[in-house]
Amino acid sequence: MKYGYFDDAAREYVITRPDTPYPWINYLGEEDFFSLMSNTSGGYSFYKDARMLRLTRYRYNNVPTDAGGKYYYINENGDLWTPGWMPVKADLEKYECRHGLGYTVITGKRNGLLCEQTALVPLGYTAEVTRVKFRNETDKKKEFTFFSFVEFCLWNALDDMTNFQRNFSIGEVEVIGTTIYHKTEYRERRNHYAVFSVNANIDGFDTDRETFIGLYNGFDDPDVPKAGKSRNSIASGWAPIGSHSIKVKLEPGEEKSFIFVLGYCENPEDQKWECPGVINKAPAQKLLAAFRTDEQFEAAMQAMHAYFEEQLSNYQAKTPDEKMNRMVNTWNQYQCTVTYHMSRSASYFESGIGRGMGFRDSTQDLLGFVHIIPELARERILDIAATQMEDGSAYHQYQPLTKKGNNDIGSGFNDDPLWLIFGVAAYIKETGDESILDEMVAYDCDASKAKPLSDHLIRSFHHVTDNLGPHGLPLIGRADWNDCLNLNCFSKTPGESFQTTANFESGVAESVFIAGMFVAVGEDYQQLCKMRGLDDEAAFADVECKKMYDTVMKDGWDGKWFLRAYDAFGNKIGSHENRDGQIFIEPQGFCVMAGIGIKEGRAKEALDSVRDLLDTPYGVSLLWPTYKEYHVELGEITSYPPSYKENGGIFCHNNPWITIAETMIGRGDRALSTYQHICPAYTEDISERHRTEPYVYPQMIASVDAPRQGEAKNSWLTGTASWTLYSVTQYILGIRPQYNGLMIDPCISDKWDGFTITRKFRGDTFHITVTNPDHVMKGVKSITVDGKAIEGNVLPVYGDGKEHNVQAVMG
Ligand code: BGC
Ligand code: NOJ
Repeated sequence: MKYGYFDDAAREYVITRPDTPYPWINYLGEEDFFSLMSNTSGGYSFYKDARMLRLTRYRYNNVPTDAGGKYYYINENGDLWTPGWMPVKADLEKYECRHGLGYTVITGKRNGLLCEQTALVPLGYTAEVTRVKFRNETDKKKEFTFFSFVEFCLWNALDDMTNFQRNFSIGEVEVIGTTIYHKTEYRERRNHYAVFSVNANIDGFDTDRETFIGLYNGFDDPDVPKAGKSRNSIASGWAPIGSHSIKVKLEPGEEKSFIFVLGYCENPEDQKWECPGVINKAPAQKLLAAFRTDEQFEAAMQAMHAYFEEQLSNYQAKTPDEKMNRMVNTWNQYQCTVTYHMSRSASYFESGIGRGMGFRDSTQDLLGFVHIIPELARERILDIAATQMEDGSAYHQYQPLTKKGNNDIGSGFNDDPLWLIFGVAAYIKETGDESILDEMVAYDCDASKAKPLSDHLIRSFHHVTDNLGPHGLPLIGRADWNDCLNLNCFSKTPGESFQTTANFESGVAESVFIAGMFVAVGEDYQQLCKMRGLDDEAAFADVECKKMYDTVMKDGWDGKWFLRAYDAFGNKIGSHENRDGQIFIEPQGFCVMAGIGIKEGRAKEALDSVRDLLDTPYGVSLLWPTYKEYHVELGEITSYPPSYKENGGIFCHNNPWITIAETMIGRGDRALSTYQHICPAYTEDISERHRTEPYVYPQMIASVDAPRQGEAKNSWLTGTASWTLYSVTQYILGIRPQYNGLMIDPCISDKWDGFTITRKFRGDTFHITVTNPDHVMKGVKSITVDGKAIEGNVLPVYGDGKEHNVQAVMG
């Protein structure tokens, strides 16, 4: 069953009924200010850091769900409703939510009154701006009062939901004209405040939640909107809110609009006060002046459209598959921009306080983002590298506001350092900018320890070679990519975090996955070394990679697939000898991506085993058979019920590894089908089962042993976004940046006649037409550029900033 449809021309997903199987959200904000917005107007806003500078409050896991948002209550002769349906839930004559790129439009209609609220975070501003437009669609005059509503958060979101003995006494506001200033803690150490304002005369306001809602009411039943009159309350402690009321009269057919601004304002430390006790409102005035008129609002919307058209124009595809087109051209790229900004911090499944920017997560996110805005990718690489430790290891995450690594979710994940090499290689292949290798970058955020980025890569690589186990495979540390395969933790205490609990280093537990990754990244590493004249290091890497290849072939092979690991006692994991967990997806994907076993025929065998043992109608499961009991020697992975999360759920993140691996052995049809199975546009029709947004990837889909097979969770913030985009654009469609140019190496269904791509690359624009006259899955027999044949399948870098027409013929 569907709850909406894709409007491809507008690049919007249009939701046509409000009671979606889960709140379907969007992200507003491309720079420093962000809002999450659901299809029923739920969500919250923050500045830079969802934990440390939260502007509005949100209640996770609330009853009903999705409680807290930007609400516009309409009272027409005692009839109360909200255009987004929630929270009042009055029946609507019309409902529609259009989630677009960087904006959301929610339209509701009742009693012939249409209300359209359009929200965005305009480029260049630290504010969410909402235009609320009314139209009288009846033939009678209308008179009604509407009430805006936001609930302020007391800045630190964790504190806000825990430290009530303090919080209930600190809230402070000020109201001047139509502007509500939320200035809690400004009088002491903060140099920032929030504003909520409207561009029209108001008939009243409220800033005290209890007065506005009533202590024993919910958002669905608030006293002030019900009574139809503001009480001009001034919050003192407790819970400050912002609300305006405006009386509106509309002739038949008449329209009126109002622009609301919810903004973050900051003053330099020495300019906090206008005069003693009076806060400096200059930044607020400047912000509000920018959104006084409809023309200003529309210009901001136009700028947003233009911004995304420009970003997306770097890669546009036309294939025979409509769903692939809409994902590749719009939604998958868009999700990659969101994961770039959010990492794993704030979604409807990540509370914004648990996880900040992940070291591994954000480096991987670059794979799908670097072609969109390379400058930002560069900045991210340098920020992440600066949190690395001197021995090459990494904090698992850092806080976006401070950019300092922290141990809140642990460290000692031995795959982390290698991802840095991955990210840097992707960046240089895209841009050709080798100078990044010379940037001086701190260790552990200590500038006195700064070394060139190339030095960080060396320490990353050596962190593996310095930490090999008994078979010569990499030691796993706390875990590898699979955070939950904790082979050295042995946790017996309920509730203890597997990510931070004591981790004794057995010196025995080894990871075949890291081995595959090491070989996969090895060639890039050698190239990067050579770029900096480090020929000895490149030669060392070559030797080590060959050794690792052989080690995997010898001690990392189980007969029909690659082993997963050795535990702290040297026992095999991911072997047919095990009762549960006989085969894991990760090493099959990564070892084949590394090229291991391709020439020996083992890659094909491993991928056949994946198809035979891990495939489900909803994607490829992480492992089989699922663990039925808790195993202290395996850790968190066995703490999950069968077929959820890492215990054999369909962990979408690593499905594209299989897709890529399949392209490496030339099986285009199978690559395509693994791509399609987890792709949300293809599951749109079963939204009632799938539950999360049909326009973005979830992290996980419940697999065969779960009662709710096919049900997705954890949408938006997942490495799946980047990996799927990377797999489909670079390996299925096969347009792949190299150090020396743009490779054309598709691996598609043999039923396809071909496809076209427009790809901007280092200033040139390539219009690439791929034809498939012989109906093969892989192989390019000829390429011409602007009518002239070229040798091989790598388009050179012309660097002339011109358009080039490329004809590639498969066969
Ligand atoms: C989750 C993982 C996550 C890890 C770190 C685990 O509980 O299952 O997906 O990466 O926590 O936060
Ligand atoms: C989610 C984490 O964000 C990611 O880094 C990890 O690789 C997967 N979980 C698998 O455990």
